[in-house]
This record gives sequence, C-alpha cells and structure tokens, in this order.
Amino acid sequence: MLTQMRTAVDSARAATTAAATAAPSMMGSSKPSAPSEAPMTGMTAFHKPAESSHSRALLQLINELMAGVETRFGIKPGTLVERKLVRIFKDMPMDTLRDWVESMNACSPDHSEWQSLVENLTVHETYFCRDPDLMNMLGDEIMPHLLNLRKAQKQLQIWSAASSTGEEVYDLTFSALRAMQKAGYARLFEGKLVPEAGWGVFSFGTDISNQALRTAKAAIYGDLGMGSFRNLPDDWKTMFEDVKIAPANAMPGVNYFKIREWVRQCTRFERFNLMNNRPPVMGMDLVFCRNVLIYFEDPVKKAVQTMLARAMAPGGVLVLGASVQMLVPAYFESRLGKGGPWYVRNDTRI
Ligand SMILES: C[S@@+](CC[C@H](N)C(=O)[O-])C[C@H]1O[C@@H](n2cnc3c(N)ncnc32)[C@H](O)[C@@H]1O
Repeated sequence: MLTQMRTAVDSARAATTAAATAAPSMMGSSKPSAPSEAPMTGMTAFHKPAESSHSRALLQLINELMAGVETRFGIKPGTLVERKLVRIFKDMPMDTLRDWVESMNACSPDHSEWQSLVENLTVHETYFCRDPDLMNMLGDEIMPHLLNLRKAQKQLQIWSAASSTGEEVYDLTFSALRAMQKAGYARLFEGKLVPEAGWGVFSFGTDISNQALRTAKAAIYGDLGMGSFRNLPDDWKTMFEDVKIAPANAMPGVNYFKIREWVRQCTRFERFNLMNNRPPVMGMDLVFCRNVLIYFEDPVKKAVQTMLARAMAPGGVLVLGASVQMLVPAYFESRLGKGGPWYVRNDTRI
C-alpha cells in the first residue's frame, strides 16, 4: 500500500506541478510566496497562520497516525516523527490518505503496512564501542560478576533489546569472550577466542526494523565516515576480517569488514516489538536496552522495563544507559559503576 501511495503521490505531484503554472499553490493561500520564504516543506507549511483546510486536515490525520504509532510501537509523538510523516504524506490526495489511515487503524502492528511505516520512523544510529566507559565497565565490573554467577552452569545468555544493525550484539559477544579468556574460561587458538569445554556464549539481538536486522545478520560493515567504525579501539579489530563486496552493492572508496565466524556463531537475531509484554527469551544473564527508551513516554518505559525484568534470571544485569531512569526498582538492586548505572535482577517474582 505504501508503494501504491507513493505512486499516487508521484502522480499528484506531477499534477500539482502542472497546475502550479496556471493556478495558485494548493498548499498555501492564494498569495504567491515571497522569494525569500523557506520552501513549504514539513512543519513550516503547517504552522503558518494562513493554513489551508487541506493542511489542517492533513495534520489531523497525521496526529491520528502518530497516536497509532505510539500505541503500537511506543514511539512518542514529537516534532521529528511529525515532520517525517508530513514529508511522506504532504502531497497525498486527502481522500486516499483518510481511507488509508482508517484501514491502518484496524491493522495489527505486525501488518506489513505498519512495518513499512515504522522503517521510516525509527532511528538506527549505532556504532561499535559506542560508549567506551560503559564498555570498560562491562569488562571490569559486569562480566566478572556474571562469570562468577554462572561458573556452575558455564554459559552466558545475552540479549540486546533494540539492537539496530547489530554492532551492540557483536560488542557484547566479543566482550564476553574476552572476559572469559581473562578468567581462564576461554583461550586464544589460531587467532580465535574459543570457550573452554562446556562453556558457551549465546547472544540474541532483537529490533522492530527488518532492514536493521538484515544488516545485523549479514554482519558486514563499511568504513565510511561517521559509520559503524567511528570509535573502534585497536584491540576490537581482531573481531573483523576483510571482505569483498560485489561492485553493484559496494559504495565507491569504502572498505568492508565482516564479523569473524567465531563471534557470529554465538549470535542470533529476530524481530521483536518492545511493546509486547511477553519477552522473546527467558533466563537472560545480561540485557542491554540502550538508546531506545528515550523515544518512549514513562508509562511505556515502565512496561518495557517490567518485560525486560521478566526475561532475566536472578543475579542477571540490566543496562539502560545513563540517561534512562529505572522505573521498576522493586525488581532490581542498583549499582553505580565507573561507566554509569547497572541493575542486578533480584528474586522478586513478576
Ligand atoms: C538508536 S537505535 C539503538 C541501537 C543500540 N541499542 C545502541 O545503543 O547503539 C534504536 C533502535 O530501536 C529500535 N526500536 C524503536 N522502537 C522499537 C520497538 N517498539 N521495538 C523494538 N525496537 C524498537 C529502532 O528500530 C532502532 O534500531
């Protein structure tokens, strides 16, 4: 449907351009714009005092759509989301848009239409070793706590909830293997970090975005500008191997690197909506949920944190990032480490 709507937008655009040469703009008042005025795109078009009934109706439909986005995906309505939606739909014939919003309201969040929309609204910004202080704290404080907790079971289960394109999952897996080597539970063999007999690391990455998950599974990253490697420490480089990409898929001048098999084989990726109150996994030892709850309102954050607590084993560790408040303290004991807060799951049942 989005594709059909885009086709409709394109033809509406063509018709508008043709009409514009003979008639006043459909978007604003009948007065021609002053040459210095900003182009009538995004919010500027809708916050002008002389709003047309078209733009008011569009804004109303967009508000309805934003409410649907928040209910289904947690992403709170805001200027950024509104701007993106205005940009997508501003030239849409109103009747088509109204019918579409109505049909969307009747669909579940798993419907392909919502999926297409959410791909356009989510922010996938991430990179390796995103927060070095946190990564140091993970190696020096959190991993020793977890290895001590799991020395009888000999396995670590890790979940990156909202893993985007996978960098966080590979960071966590690599950190776990390095901590195991330090503790004598893994060794370096022919350049690979190999767990000692009986030991295992299982890392699970989930996200709402299928596009992001495809990149995560492919595990191939380019070294362009502010991309995945903008902050890569030297000792992180052993995790990668050079890879050649077919010229049709490669960007000129960019080198590509793939996560090595011995790290990839510990990982798995799946689509999961954080709004679901049933976790996709249980008994997790380490859960990272960073740079996503900032897009949610407090009641949604609280529901997500409760779901994460449900997924965790007693003694397991939750990391939310420094800017997100713990809203379900009944299930956790707080620790303040050198790289920020972390939370140890207690025995309280949910
Ligand atoms: C900014 S990235 C954070 C990536 C990584 N955790 C990090 O800190 O680098 C936020 C991710 O949250 C995902 N996301 C947003 N809403 C979601 C939801 N309701 N359920 C699951 N993932 C969601 C987005 O698709 C995006 O990939």
